[in-house]
Amino acid sequence: MTSDLTDLIRTIPDFPKPGIQFRDITTLLADGEGLRDLTARLADIARPLDADLIVGIEARGFILGAALALALGKGFVPVRKKGKLPGKTVGIDYVLEYGTDRLELHEGQVPQGARVLLVDDLIATGGTAVAAAQLLREQGASVLMALFAIDLPELGGMAALEAEGIAARGIMT
Ligand code: PRP
Ligand code: ADE
Repeated sequence: MTSDLTDLIRTIPDFPKPGIQFRDITTLLADGEGLRDLTARLADIARPLDADLIVGIEARGFILGAALALALGKGFVPVRKKGKLPGKTVGIDYVLEYGTDRLELHEGQVPQGARVLLVDDLIATGGTAVAAAQLLREQGASVLMALFAIDLPELGGMAALEAEGIAARGIMT
């Protein structure tokens, strides 16, 4: 099944900057069986952990995180880029493979002591996921696992999460 899913992802060279091999999941999302299979695989990993909440990272982590939350019957909380959430926020600055940004969360939306699963489409350097996990920990949550559709192992993101003591799984490389 993994190879079928991998076939549904396309790589677009030099987006959004020269030298970046951009892994585009929109082709997988547009395929009903592919989206169902990917969601099922994420759910198989996540189900035994029985998290309280699924937290998805903007923007593509919203799609997979919401699909996973529905599959598990759990609530979904978005971690957004700066200035997008209407309520009072808590936030953290982070470094991307191709820039810098800030992640924010609605204050109080992840309760103290919550056991959460973090979801995104892809991990590259791990800057985004590590920052999101730090933000969640600052709220008093524990991050049971970080889940990704795609891991780019040569960029070291999984190792960066491991160094922070965060378990992580990717479905494809
Ligand atoms: C991509 C991807 C991850 C992040 C991974 O998002 O969806 O969130 O980069 O990179 P990292 O492991 O090096 O931090 P992007 O910042 O492009 O934002 P978008 O989903 O809003 O397009
Ligand atoms: N985010 C960071 N690096 C990426 C890549 N190569 N493809 C898609 N999203 C990314």
